[in-house]
Amino acid sequence: MMQQEIKNDLILRTLRGEAVERTPVWMMRQAGRYLPEYIRLRERYSFFERCQNPELACEITLQPVDIVGVDAAILFSDILVVPQAMGMEVQLVEKLGPFLPQPVKAEEDLQRISVPDVNDKLSYVFEAIRLIKKELNGRVPLIGFAGAPWTLLCYMVQGKGSKTFDEAKAFCYQQPATAHALLQMITDTTIAYLKGQVAAGADVLQLFDSWGGLLGKNDFEVFSLRYIRQIVEALKTEVPVIVFAKGAWGSLAEMAQTGAAGLGIDWCIEPQTARNIAGKYVTLQGNFDPAKLLGPVPQIEKETKEMLRAFGKDRHIANLGHGILPNVPVDHARAFVDTVKAYRFSNS
Ligand code: CP3
Repeated sequence: MMQQEIKNDLILRTLRGEAVERTPVWMMRQAGRYLPEYIRLRERYSFFERCQNPELACEITLQPVDIVGVDAAILFSDILVVPQAMGMEVQLVEKLGPFLPQPVKAEEDLQRISVPDVNDKLSYVFEAIRLIKKELNGRVPLIGFAGAPWTLLCYMVQGKGSKTFDEAKAFCYQQPATAHALLQMITDTTIAYLKGQVAAGADVLQLFDSWGGLLGKNDFEVFSLRYIRQIVEALKTEVPVIVFAKGAWGSLAEMAQTGAAGLGIDWCIEPQTARNIAGKYVTLQGNFDPAKLLGPVPQIEKETKEMLRAFGKDRHIANLGHGILPNVPVDHARAFVDTVKAYRFSNS
């Protein structure tokens, strides 16, 4: 594929540690339900139809770039397309969220799943990426993504969302050998999948470990970080990789050692504390409390500037500390983005 020049490459430069004229900004889950343009498509197509149709995925990916003016596009898809490609049935049930009717509970259940040929099972994602790159025409970089193995195991074992993922954790503690076999299958699939995303044109990759914070530090190392390390190692020479392990900031120092170019942090850790722990050579991404976008606009503007100052110039990508909430007014999201884009650090 012909290399395309990217006009707004702020995010790529800040991930390489280069000085930037201003802090770049995007929002996790920016392509989604707070946008009326997305809701309209939702009435006509099921969730996985929207993911599997490259034209629809492309249209939804571009919406926040056009409507909110973010500095990166993130592929519209879901982390659960990987368990699906591995052979599990995944449904998205209204109000309940993800539902996997036949979760993994024991060693014999691994026979029902496999490490698939991603070019067969996930080619629709690669096709969407090629189309998005064409339509973006170099305006901003495209972020590809996958769920981290631990977070995918949570859904594959629990079978649905949960506050504690207690069944998934029990599975790891009662049947560690089976858990590790599953984590390795997910890891192998994810590496092939992310390599395919890069070959199709993804400029940056993000790993979402949304449930990393459910594990204590030792268990996070054993059941999550070991696999994240394999993925980062396999991809880091191709594109910058951002690791976002929500709530797992007790392992920030270890995550900074994985070779990730960026680390996502949530709002429960202070930017300066995160910087002290992570060291100088990694870009930090975050960490505005998504619920704060429900507050009044002047407050959003004030606190966004405070966040920018707390991170300082360079090596920061402004973002939320988790996904944008569906009830956020579009102009509040825009106020966050516009405040970042207008802010300039003085030279002192
Ligand atoms: O960030 C983006 O804009 C790209 C699209 C994206 C989606 N899901 C679309 C989506 C991304 C990056 C994800 C990641 C994802 N999916 C995560 C990790 C990030 C996080 O928020 O923690 C997780 C845990 C999932 C699993 C998942 N998918 C859940 C729990 C749900 C239901 C609840 C919810 O948040 O909506 C989904 C469905 C989903 N994925 C929707 C969207 C836009 C909403 C479904 C709909 O519109 O009908």
